[in-house]
Amino acid sequence: MAGNTLLEVKNLTIRYETEDGVVQALNDVDIKIGVGETLGIVGETGAGKTTLAKGIMRLIPSPPGKITSGEVLYMGKDLLSLSMKEMQEIRGQHISMIFQDPMTSLNPVLTVGEQIMEVIEQHNNLKPQEAQKQAEDMLERVGIPAERFGEYPHQFSGGMKQRVVIAIALACNPRLLIADEPTTALDVTIQAQVLDMIHKLKAENHTSMILITHDLGVVAQNCDCVAIVYAGEIVEYGNLREVYKNTSHPYTEGLFGSIPSLTSDVRRLQAIEGMMPDPAKMPEGCKFYERCKYAFKECKQSIPPMTAIGGTHQVRCFRYTDHDKSGKGGK
Ligand SMILES: Nc1ncnc2c1ncn2[C@@H]1O[C@H](COP(=O)(O)OP(=O)(O)OP(=O)(O)O)[C@@H](O)[C@H]1O
Ligand SMILES: [Mg+2]
Repeated sequence: MAGNTLLEVKNLTIRYETEDGVVQALNDVDIKIGVGETLGIVGETGAGKTTLAKGIMRLIPSPPGKITSGEVLYMGKDLLSLSMKEMQEIRGQHISMIFQDPMTSLNPVLTVGEQIMEVIEQHNNLKPQEAQKQAEDMLERVGIPAERFGEYPHQFSGGMKQRVVIAIALACNPRLLIADEPTTALDVTIQAQVLDMIHKLKAENHTSMILITHDLGVVAQNCDCVAIVYAGEIVEYGNLREVYKNTSHPYTEGLFGSIPSLTSDVRRLQAIEGMMPDPAKMPEGCKFYERCKYAFKECKQSIPPMTAIGGTHQVRCFRYTDHDKSGKGGK
């Protein structure tokens, strides 16, 4: 973990109050990101990844969403206590986000150049000519010729549009970029290109990043640390080596069993049996209990605490605590 912490999320808990009940989308989440560092957030659909990202940005739709507790410390300041105006300054200038459905985040009636310029003008006091020059530079940096400044989104391919979205997100040189599955909608070959590009731009500017993905291969290639999220909780956390070499949570074990490894022979895909619990009816104990082959009685009764198992590596599993491990198979 880098010495200089840029962002620290503490005990963040977020609910959605819907007609069907209260969805516990995020429960007591802690993360920490150093300057220039990339944290990967991995978990299956509905795990709470986007909720975490939007919580940091204060973009949880309310209602139905509600941040019920926690802190989001950016350079030591709690973003949750800022006014909307102060928060707007943070967004874009300090923290920017690439949304999960980036293709819809472009405005069809503005040229791509205008959209990049808009962000630059919003945050800097520049003459239009200077802003245009910067926007053109930004286009070039994401691999789009500056001559295409005056074209509209529909004139670009999916991969190119995604580059534009990235140009917009990086136009103000944010200290932290939150990328929510930035390449999921793209072809595999374009995915790699776009990720390489983000990686390069990030390194040039010492930008920190939160990279949300389903893909453990993407994490391996882009992240320093990784947080595995299951049913709204982080179940395993640590630097890449620790988590990949010493995979400890039964859920992470399952995930690693179900992806083709990039370094060894491609393994057969093996899905984890069972389903994530309904977030409107969360079980009392460990959320992974029903799917866990190691579960014992205690696991059903209380939520295991995050337990340090060496270095930065932490696991939310009673197998690593000194709890009573009797009653195996006692489901
Ligand atoms: N606006 C909302 N209203 C009600 N429930 C919501 C809302 N947004 C998210 N949820 C619920 O919160 C939980 C977490 O959703 P979230 O979108 O954060 O998951 P995710 O990990 O990003 O999933 P995916 O991989 O599919 O993007 C889910 O159960 C989801 O149905
Ligand atoms: Mg999501």
